[in-house]
Amino acid sequence: MKEQDRLEMERQLSQLSEAKKLVTDLTQKLGRRPTACVVTFGCQMNARDSEKISGILAEAGYELTEDENSDFVLYNTCTVRENANLKVYGRLGVLNGYKKKNPHMKIALCGCMMQEEQVVEKLRKSYRFVNLIFGTHNLYRFPELLVSCLSQEDMIIDIWKDTERIVEDLPVRRKYPFKSGVNIMFGCNNFCTYCIVPYVRGRERSRQPEDILREAQQLVAEGYKDITLLGQNVNSYGKDLDREIDFADLIRMINAIPGEFLIRFMTSHPKDATEKLFRTMAECEKCAHHLHLPVQSGNDRILRAMNRNYDHEAYLKKLETARRLMPDLVVTTDIIVGFPGETEEEFEDTIRLCEQVRYDAMFTFIYSKRNGTPAATMPDPYTREDKQRHFDRLTETANRISGEKHREYEGQILKVLVDGETGREEYNLSSRTNGGRLVHLKGDPSLIGQFVNVRITASNTWALYGEMENG
Ligand code: SAH
Ligand code: SF4
Ligand code: F3S
Repeated sequence: MKEQDRLEMERQLSQLSEAKKLVTDLTQKLGRRPTACVVTFGCQMNARDSEKISGILAEAGYELTEDENSDFVLYNTCTVRENANLKVYGRLGVLNGYKKKNPHMKIALCGCMMQEEQVVEKLRKSYRFVNLIFGTHNLYRFPELLVSCLSQEDMIIDIWKDTERIVEDLPVRRKYPFKSGVNIMFGCNNFCTYCIVPYVRGRERSRQPEDILREAQQLVAEGYKDITLLGQNVNSYGKDLDREIDFADLIRMINAIPGEFLIRFMTSHPKDATEKLFRTMAECEKCAHHLHLPVQSGNDRILRAMNRNYDHEAYLKKLETARRLMPDLVVTTDIIVGFPGETEEEFEDTIRLCEQVRYDAMFTFIYSKRNGTPAATMPDPYTREDKQRHFDRLTETANRISGEKHREYEGQILKVLVDGETGREEYNLSSRTNGGRLVHLKGDPSLIGQFVNVRITASNTWALYGEMENG
């Protein structure tokens, strides 16, 4: 950690002691421990940020709850598509109702949506009951912001345009005791023309490998079995560091930690996915054979207009290399339907590519216009109905292929990590294969967090079903 980042960490830890005193006062006033609820929208990056916020709230003395009718509620927001954004406004109305009955309640908003000026303007004007608004770049200042929020009634707004800072070692409260994400880098430099993430998450910043390694070692020592390395484009890890290290080198370092655990990562941009990465994945026995490689479109004109920096041929070639090195590789993707001006024929190219690749799972989205991005001003003669029709067709294709791929597992014996309960009697546990496929099985809940072997007996589009094997 840089010296100034270390000083900042110390400052925030002393602010956290201040927050503790304020929460103790509140406990006395209420005659009970105050509760806090953190609600996460969006991607795994946000989920990880929420664990940091929850850690600070717990350390300050709050009892964490899932109930939004609590003394401190925080929404960690997403704005990648308009839907994500609208959801937050809707739910804020409900929170206001709670606050009317419980006037000392504090409402806080943070995350990607808060990095948009018009959002903050709207909140400032029409959502006066919100107490605290901060963005993605100053999350590490949450202890200090919490102190301000607890000691005054005014709406506090603290948004930064960007930051160079990476502050380590603040408390965290991980959601699960056996799987967790580890940030390896923040921000994105790719500026795909439809995407708002680079504007709300700032430029790429890689964490120092020693800091990442230390966090991973600690997780393994605590018994974590599934570690996901997180970044918007993990393949450009290290490019901004003043030393020679890339993402493949980082995987090797983590793979060398003794113990039984899986290494996963999210997300890989196809333009920077190298043969070295695939080779490393194949050679490192702890690395999951799963590649989430978002293609977005199968048409070269659209890919150019999206500024993705590869064409469909280059994409297919990379996958061919990856599959040659890892014949059991599970491949998943993201696809956008209805990018401005996408024609019928251009959409057909996407269907064709999907049939060629045969993805194990596809995450499909209808294009959503994000103000401030280049695509928002591109002409778009197609209607919502056209796009919906294409979307439905793509979903059908995706589901059919997933179902067919899943059927191929029937009869196989796979090692899975049990990760939760389903609430159903026949198949009461859920688990994931090395490639990330969902497997339902019957077993004792004490197996949660453990690897077990299952024989796959049935499957459908969404999941596999299995029976535990002895030994
Ligand atoms: N960094 C990751 C993606 C993060 S956003 C990557 O590049 O792979 C997750 C997915 O949301 C994207 O892959 C894309 O398919 C989708 N997405 C992003 N912006 C969108 C928009 N404006 N409309 C619809 N889908 C979008
Ligand atoms: Fe968005 Fe593209 Fe960056 Fe992914 S790589 S976050 S899609 S700009
Ligand atoms: Fe959403 Fe921000 Fe992630 S916009 S998808 S939460 S980086």
